[in-house]
Amino acid sequence: TPDAHVKRDPRLIRLTGIHPFNVEAPLTDLFNSGFLTPPELHFVRNHGPVPEVHDQDIPVWEVSIEGLVENPITLTFSEISSPNHFSQYTLPITLVCAGNRRKEQNMVRKSQGFSWGPAGVSTSLWTGPMLCDILALAKPDRRRGARYVCFEGADMLPNGAYGTSLKLSLCMDPVRGIMLGYKQNGEMLMPDHGRPIRVVVPGMIGGRSVKWLKKIIISDQPSTSYYHDYDNKVMPTHVTPAIASTEEGKKFWMDEKWNIFDLNVNSAIAYPAHDEILEIVPKAQDVKVEEMYTLRGYAYGGGGRRIQRVEISLDKGKTWRPTSITHHEDKYRSMSIPENTYLFGGKLDVGWRETCFCWCFWDLSVPHSDLASANVEDIVVRAMDEALNIQPRDMYWSLLGMMNNPWFRVALRKET
Ligand code: MTE
Repeated sequence: TPDAHVKRDPRLIRLTGIHPFNVEAPLTDLFNSGFLTPPELHFVRNHGPVPEVHDQDIPVWEVSIEGLVENPITLTFSEISSPNHFSQYTLPITLVCAGNRRKEQNMVRKSQGFSWGPAGVSTSLWTGPMLCDILALAKPDRRRGARYVCFEGADMLPNGAYGTSLKLSLCMDPVRGIMLGYKQNGEMLMPDHGRPIRVVVPGMIGGRSVKWLKKIIISDQPSTSYYHDYDNKVMPTHVTPAIASTEEGKKFWMDEKWNIFDLNVNSAIAYPAHDEILEIVPKAQDVKVEEMYTLRGYAYGGGGRRIQRVEISLDKGKTWRPTSITHHEDKYRSMSIPENTYLFGGKLDVGWRETCFCWCFWDLSVPHSDLASANVEDIVVRAMDEALNIQPRDMYWSLLGMMNNPWFRVALRKET
């Protein structure tokens, strides 16, 4: 098998057979492991074999910065990770696969994508230099038309290298916090997560965070990688598999306007789990204090926008109850920092105090009698961010089944 050199946690659930490796943890395990996901439980999305990188080859691993730049350079891993060359940052960042929750969409109408549950999301402390600092050294040449930053990985795929691109203006903005990450929770990267170095793009779909990074190409046009055109898109809903496979359909694939970048608002319920048995204690006549069940789950938004409310409905959306939200990342903003490492520090200081690139956890305690009530058939959750982007009631079906974010629902079945 191509990935024989890679060690993996047996708890991970395989979503696409033996190869390539695409997995999520059981939602309960993911949620119980807390704000920072242990790297071995972090979801994995691979399009092909994992490049084998031996310890002794890491310091000399090269990343080239080429194309429309005044100063083309090739940097080694040692240089990229040296505080003498670039300020090194450590930031908590949530990565989310654009396919998170696709299973629900596939159950309604099959899309061209495999069935992620709600655990295609994970959070790590990522360490590395800012991409904007590295670009500043190479000097993108705007007069020659530099507008896009293309990235290429080292994995060998049937349709060439995995690659994608971002707008140059975004990459130059320190507030977006786009970094080249070589440590995850303080450890060197696991092979599945891009060892030895990858792009980490906060607030965006995981597909833009190119793993096993080899090339950064400044261009006047978006990436020409097959995987930029044929993946990570939300097509208009009328584009069915039949339409997409025609010559006419090709124009949808080649049009960058359907590409997705910032994440949309999303949330899920971890407790109760879909198959959880709730022991509901009926309220005795004379008892004032009732048994409570605590509903819990996660929510996240895109582009640095903070989740400001998460609401629960027990009557299919007629009425909503506010939950209490914990933004665990806030505590990192005041943590003491190792020398030469900026944590919400350096020039990111201003931006990072106002942006939000992590999932948050919510909870709400409800009386047992509310859940037991005969007309309560399900629990639904929806989140809203600071720009009032809110999860829709209804699903938006699209060909690749991405960015699925309608109200998340757990059905209740009453047994006596
Ligand atoms: N980079 C390379 N080189 N090859 C890939 O297959 N998959 C992308 C992205 N970067 C991919 C890649 C996709 S679609 C996602 S969601 C994230 O990596 C997943 O990152 P993870 O496996 O570390 O969770």
